[in-house]
Parts: sequence; C-alpha cells; structure tokens
Amino acid sequence: MKILVTGVCGFVGSALAECLLERIEGVHIAGIDNLMRPGAETNRAHIEKLGVEFIHGDIRSASDFAALPACDWVIDAAANPSVLAGLGGAGSSRRLFEHNLASIGNVLEYCKTHKAGLLLLSSSRVYSIPALAAIPMRVRNNAYEADTSKPLPSGLTAEGIGVDFSTAAPVSLYGATKLASEIMALEYGLAFDFPVWITRCGVLAGAGQFGTPEQGIFAFWINAHLRRRPIRYIGFDGTGCQTRDAFHPRDLAALLVAQMRTSRSKGQRIYTAGGGPSNAMSLAQLTAWCDQRFGRHVPAADPKPRQYDIPWVVMDNSSTASEFNWTIETPLATILEGIAQHAQAHPGWLEVSHA
Ligand SMILES: NC(=O)c1ccc[n+]([C@@H]2O[C@H](COP(=O)([O-])OP(=O)(O)OC[C@H]3O[C@@H](n4cnc5c(N)ncnc54)[C@H](O)[C@@H]3O)[C@@H](O)[C@H]2O)c1
Repeated sequence: MKILVTGVCGFVGSALAECLLERIEGVHIAGIDNLMRPGAETNRAHIEKLGVEFIHGDIRSASDFAALPACDWVIDAAANPSVLAGLGGAGSSRRLFEHNLASIGNVLEYCKTHKAGLLLLSSSRVYSIPALAAIPMRVRNNAYEADTSKPLPSGLTAEGIGVDFSTAAPVSLYGATKLASEIMALEYGLAFDFPVWITRCGVLAGAGQFGTPEQGIFAFWINAHLRRRPIRYIGFDGTGCQTRDAFHPRDLAALLVAQMRTSRSKGQRIYTAGGGPSNAMSLAQLTAWCDQRFGRHVPAADPKPRQYDIPWVVMDNSSTASEFNWTIETPLATILEGIAQHAQAHPGWLEVSHA
C-alpha cells in the first residue's frame, strides 16, 4: 500500500506518518509539505529517517501535485489550522482560502486521476458558532459542561457533539473552508468513484505540537506555563472555564487505518472523533495541572470576548466507535505528561513555534 500525506511535516501529518509505518506492514509513505508552519522543518529529517519519501512542494500548485508519485490513499493534513486564520493577524483571508480550500481541487483531481481514496481531516469548527454558544452550560470544577438536565439541541447528547449538529453559518472562515472541502470531497468521490472518509476532529494534542495562543492550545499553555511566559484567560469573564476535549494523533491513526480497511462504499461518510468527555479539560484545570507539575504561575484575566470563541467542545465518538470498532486509547493525562516532558527537553520550543 502507498499513502500520500499532505502537510507531512506538520504536527498531525508527521505523527500519522510515523504511526502508519508502525501499523501497516510494508506501507510506503510519500509526503508533501511547503514548510510554511513555523517549526515544521524540525520534522523533516525525522520522517525521512523513518523512510518517508519527502517532497518539498505546495498543494496549491497543480504542477507540484502532478509530480507526486501515484498512491492508493491520500491523507489531507495540510492546512492553516487556526480558527483565527484569515482575520488579519493570522494571515490574509485570500491566503486562507488558497491554502485550505482552493488547494482541495488539486487533492481531488489527484484522487480522481489515481483512483486514490481520500481521508479528509475536517474539524469540529464546521459547527455553527451561535448553536454552540446556545448549548445550555453549567460550571463544575472550574470547567464548562453541557447541562444535560435541560433540553439539548439536535446532534448533541451527553457524549458530546455528533455529526448532525448544526453547521449553519457563521462557523468561522477556517470552519467554512473545512465544510466546503467536505462537500467537494463527497461530490468528487461519488462522481469519480473513489472512497472518501471525512473525520471531523476535535482538538488534537501531543508532544512536539507547535502551540501558539491561536492554535495548539494545550502545547502552548504547558510550554508557556513552564517558561513563565504571560498567559491569559481570554473571554468568558476571564475565568478560564472554556473547555475542550483532546486526543492524540496516534488514536486518529488507528481510526484512519480502520477506515482504509472498510470495504463499505455506500452510506455515512462523515464521522466525528475527539477525546470525548473523559479527555476534556478547561484552561483553569490545565493551569492547576501545570501548577502541580511546574510550580505556581498565575494567568491574567482578559474578559474581552475574542471572535469565534466558544465555551465548550466535546466530540461524541459513539457512532465512530461502533462503526470502526475504535476507541480512544491515550488518556489526557498521558498526552499532558508527554507535552510537559517535551517542553522540558526543548527550552526554545515557543521560539521554534513562533509563539
Ligand atoms: N491540530 C488540531 O487540533 C486539529 C483539529 C482538527 C483538525 N485539524 C486538521 O488537521 C490537519 C493538520 O493540522 P496540524 O495541527 O498538524 O497543523 P500544522 O500546522 O501543524 O500542520 C499543517 C502542515 O501543512 C503544511 N501546509 C500548509 N499549507 C500547505 C500547502 N499549501 N502546501 C503544502 N503544505 C502545506 C504546513 O507547513 C504544516 O506542516 C489540518 O487540516 C487541520 O485543519 C487539526
């Protein structure tokens, strides 16, 4: 089997390449990356040493794609993954459009030409921001959680957000590029008869992630706490109660392998995946974890709301788990400890990540 990974030097792309080499006997992995993410270049030598065929190129370029080797599957892990992308500070809207959406045309034409299956890494950010903000919340142990004693909107259960939750605009510019990519991928797969699996991922986290305040929050917070950098609870009255679930790319890799091994060609193609309720944590709880690990460091309160911010995201894995016989195997505590050890071993990681 041959697999092409776009964004192969990114946090997720590089981790997936490594896990797939471990999990699939005899697999050949080719990967393309333009190294635009600060820190991505640090993964290049490592994946090449593992045997990944690295191609320095840009998925926005049709001619770069034409030069790629034929593969059986494509994992699309190249994007600007920040929900603030396109809003100015995190790059222009045109740049976001080109990297995250226009480029999908090249990915899909590649799949059509080579009859390659597509594993699209979508995001929890395809969900409607007003609908997410309207979920009844309560605070427990300094963390928001869905108040399941109240009527819940369609697509939300006590397990979290499922595929049927509203995707009505606004979903953020970033979320819109992912939602539009999903639609184009489904349509190409049906029109040109190649398999498409779409996974709407919650937060992915782990050692070696290039965390900034805008993206990769678990890695940023742990590195910044350890280095006594200023950290802020933005919005939500400056409480730090905003909560996310997180899962490790090695658990995502297990799901992608199961999807590649599934012969079903009809029916549901979009699934949700995340850490789930047991792998969820608020920023205030993360600070408490860091205080125990590194000594006390107090974040500042910055109650002014930030655009596109939402109080709580936890993904419902139940249909994904039953369809693909898949479970989360890496607990949040293991993910946090991995990030902490990496942070201690890499004193300049925030600088590498341009945080
Ligand atoms: N990290 C998360 O929490 C998360 C959650 C949900 C979905 N995702 C999705 O997973 C994928 C990977 O995210 P990540 O966290 O590894 O991000 P990352 O920034 O670490 O990796 C993305 C990689 O893509 C490369 N890239 C970007 N534009 C490119 C282009 N035009 N041509 C070639 N390479 C390009 C970057 O250089 C980088 O190495 C993205 O599609 C993201 O939207 C991530």
